[in-house]
Amino acid sequence: MKEFHQSLQKAAFEKGIPVYGGFELTTRCNLSCRMCYVKGAGAGKSNHELTANQWVELGRAARDGGALAVFLTGGEPLIRDDFKEIYEAFCRLGLRLTLFTNGTLINEELAKWLSQIPPAAVDITLYGASETTYRNLCGSGEAFHKAMGGLELLLKNNITTRIKTTVVRSNVHDYQAVQTIALSYGLEFLPSNLIHGNRITGIKNINDERLSPGEIYSFDLANLEQGVCSPIDLENIKGQYKDSPAMFCLAGKCSFFINWLGRLVPCNLFEKPYTVPLDVGFKQAWDLLRHQVTQIPGLENCKGCELRAFCPVCPGRLYLETGKFDGHSEYVCLLAKEKERMMRNINL
Ligand SMILES: C[S@@+](CC[C@H](N)C(=O)[O-])C[C@H]1O[C@@H](n2cnc3c(N)ncnc32)[C@H](O)[C@@H]1O
Ligand code: SF4
Ligand code: SF4
Repeated sequence: MKEFHQSLQKAAFEKGIPVYGGFELTTRCNLSCRMCYVKGAGAGKSNHELTANQWVELGRAARDGGALAVFLTGGEPLIRDDFKEIYEAFCRLGLRLTLFTNGTLINEELAKWLSQIPPAAVDITLYGASETTYRNLCGSGEAFHKAMGGLELLLKNNITTRIKTTVVRSNVHDYQAVQTIALSYGLEFLPSNLIHGNRITGIKNINDERLSPGEIYSFDLANLEQGVCSPIDLENIKGQYKDSPAMFCLAGKCSFFINWLGRLVPCNLFEKPYTVPLDVGFKQAWDLLRHQVTQIPGLENCKGCELRAFCPVCPGRLYLETGKFDGHSEYVCLLAKEKERMMRNINL
């Protein structure tokens, strides 16, 4: 299967077929996480959101354009009254679905309904392992019990579930406990500690919440050391990546994101460039977006930088850090330096 996916991805990348996609059904949410990159977009209002019919039209057009595997996200997608309508239609389109949720709105009835037409996976983000952490980070202590309840209901109904966690200052102390929860249920655990800016306000209100680059990679190293790591050929890796193009991920090549306003963007970090598939049709919107992605300025500050191989830099991340696609971010540079340091330590 792994080989199949790799060759599918390679072919899609080379041919520019949008096989992967994300659909941001809403920006509304019942929680209010401090670091949320969506918070503020739409100011929680539903009146500018697309209707269920519009989402289904977009799903169908994306499927006809080549989409195979997509995720539904938000905000909190389950907050929509018409979520089931959208979900069922997407299933009937034959799309491989993953649902991103905070898990707190999953009740007995919803879990049972989901088990009739289960997604490939439900990814629940757990924000901590106690009421206190949830209260401090997400604005609701009760949400911890609701998320755990939602998780149990999914498992009771045999729905493939994975545990994500987004590690920030307000919940870093719970990291091991969240991992233990995932392991105790035998679930795949997907932690992330790389925090990007909010799409509306950038990084300034989030900065205090994210860990320092040093903390991020000492944290990663501690976890890597629990597994077995083979030595890494650092010098060879450095040489390979120093002149990489500004965007060398899948976004705008074979993956896309449709934000809550129905705008087609390269990924969830971008507000622009965008095109509007409901106006011009998905195929034309995709072709136009692919072209626009090639017009995003190169990373002048990064030309020839040997740390590029370890760097999470990309125009979208830089825009949320600096307001420019090709700005300079000390934080991002430090991430690269710390990652290289971590790699060297693995080799020792
Ligand atoms: C925006 S949420 C939407 C789905 C759902 N409400 C949830 O919390 O899983 C999608 C994922 O983005 C993560 N996230 C939120 N803000 C982030 C940020 N500033 N940087 C990186 N990831 C972030 C969340 O923790 C979650 O795992
Ligand atoms: S639960 Fe998800 S969408 Fe809601 S505030 Fe938290 S990160 Fe944002
Ligand atoms: S952001 Fe800094 S470390 Fe990363 S590639 Fe650019 S110059 Fe190098």
